[in-house]
Amino acid sequence: MSYTPELLELIKLVEKTRSQRVEQKKQNKEFPAIPVAQREDILKKYHPDFIPGTRREIKVGPSKGYVISNEYVDIIEAKSRVNPDLIDLNNVAYETDVLVIGGGGAGNSAALMAREQGAKVIIITKLRNGDANTMMAEGGIQGASKVEKDSPYYHYLDVLGGGHFVNNPELVYTLVLEAPKVLAWLENLGVNFNKFPDGRLQSMHGGGTCRKRMHYAGDITGAEIMRTLRDEVRNHPEDIQVIEFSPAVELVLNEKGECRGAICYNLETEEYFFIKAKAVILATGGSGRLHIQNFMTTNHYGATGDGLILGYRVGVPLCFLHTVQYHPTGVVFPEQAEGILITEKFRGAGANLLNIKGEQFVFEREPRDVEAAAIIRETSAERNLGVPTPNGKFGVWLDSPMIEFLKGEGTVRREFPGKYILFKRFDIDITKQPMLISPTLHYQNGGLEMTNKGESCVPGLFIGGEVGGGVHGENRLMGNSLLDVTVFGRIAGISAGQYAKNYSGNGKLTLDHVRKYNKELEAAGVGLDRISPMILPDYTTPEVRKRQLTAYYQGTLR
Ligand code: FUM
Repeated sequence: MSYTPELLELIKLVEKTRSQRVEQKKQNKEFPAIPVAQREDILKKYHPDFIPGTRREIKVGPSKGYVISNEYVDIIEAKSRVNPDLIDLNNVAYETDVLVIGGGGAGNSAALMAREQGAKVIIITKLRNGDANTMMAEGGIQGASKVEKDSPYYHYLDVLGGGHFVNNPELVYTLVLEAPKVLAWLENLGVNFNKFPDGRLQSMHGGGTCRKRMHYAGDITGAEIMRTLRDEVRNHPEDIQVIEFSPAVELVLNEKGECRGAICYNLETEEYFFIKAKAVILATGGSGRLHIQNFMTTNHYGATGDGLILGYRVGVPLCFLHTVQYHPTGVVFPEQAEGILITEKFRGAGANLLNIKGEQFVFEREPRDVEAAAIIRETSAERNLGVPTPNGKFGVWLDSPMIEFLKGEGTVRREFPGKYILFKRFDIDITKQPMLISPTLHYQNGGLEMTNKGESCVPGLFIGGEVGGGVHGENRLMGNSLLDVTVFGRIAGISAGQYAKNYSGNGKLTLDHVRKYNKELEAAGVGLDRISPMILPDYTTPEVRKRQLTAYYQGTLR
């Protein structure tokens, strides 16, 4: 649906203030940033993490007592999909050195590096290899590649600042130090980053960064990285086997407590099967499809937080899951594109955020949590300066045409081809008309506890990418997610490959941890009517589900 006459009328107010805003930007007169002391107040008042009644304490497991969003607790306090008494662990469907669970950026990076250690690898993935949040990442990947102006030192400070200074410093240190190396690795594998004619990588600012270190491939950076990693995995079929449409639903330990594989579920045949391994890597990605607090999401269809519960049931604690990232700019209109990411790169290129009066109300490159909270404040009943959409929601304008005035005609189409095409389908030309946006659930800031070697507290179980916690503290900055999946995916692959090479143990295989967890649930009286992992989100309402079931039994389902 294109803009309605009412919205077209409101766009005139944006146009009215544009030339003055462009002029100020050209003179480097930025809208004042929110003073650090005020940031906490805005967050506490408007960020969804702080809405009372939306979280509760976990009653079972290694992080008992930790307070996180209800939607997370729902998948944590739930019974396993498998009945341990019905699974025969002598029935091994596949055997390998390293089992990688997850087919995104972290999983594919891990598989490639485990192979380099001499390991035979299986990637098991819920959907197709590459169906992952990595594929959907747009704006870029950070890395202090420009030694004359930047250094991992500045990158380190930015990551800590964005994360409210509570990040695990060792993880941050590893992230920023590995970044230039990983950029070179990706480039070498064939990632087509935007470059200057002399071959240097182009870069720009993201929110909360003091240097321009965001490297990108148009506005499809994640797709380009995923394409390259997946192609490289395909180049090694003798060492890396990929099994698709088969989510892992439970980890398997041995009697010594070492991780020795996973029970997986074939979505097509609906059968469970066991993959035995010397080492296992959890690279299952994020959880946007839990739709925390009913938020729309940028995440791919399979992002249901499966790895969190797999790791938690075998004893890995959770950390930093008390904060969730809402990306400031998701599509709120047209309705058909709701939730889709509008990359921060638009703001990096200078596009302002404006309220219903066409007035700028926030500096466009605040750290993400602060930016999202400021937008929610603008659209709140208190300020009432949001732009109403025809479907009854509120958003604010992201003034993309400004970029044409700042950086020259044709820039938007060249730098943001994905978004240009998307909006064109709805008869909206983002080179001339602003976009209507609102915060959208984007990233799982926390996850399973891990070391900077990608180890968990369970021997033989390694962690890489969004399922892990600690790198980003309480808020991730743009471009550090593609970096996280590649840095810690690679590290998990190296560690697991080496572990598998040296592994000579054995021991009886067991699912006793499932029995123990079920007992804990019973003792606490929670989660007995739920199972997890969720595997795929269910978008039908209880009424529809009931109608479908009735129609099924009456033989009238079509
Ligand atoms: O805005 C973006 O392009 C998102 C990037 C990220 O989450 O790192």
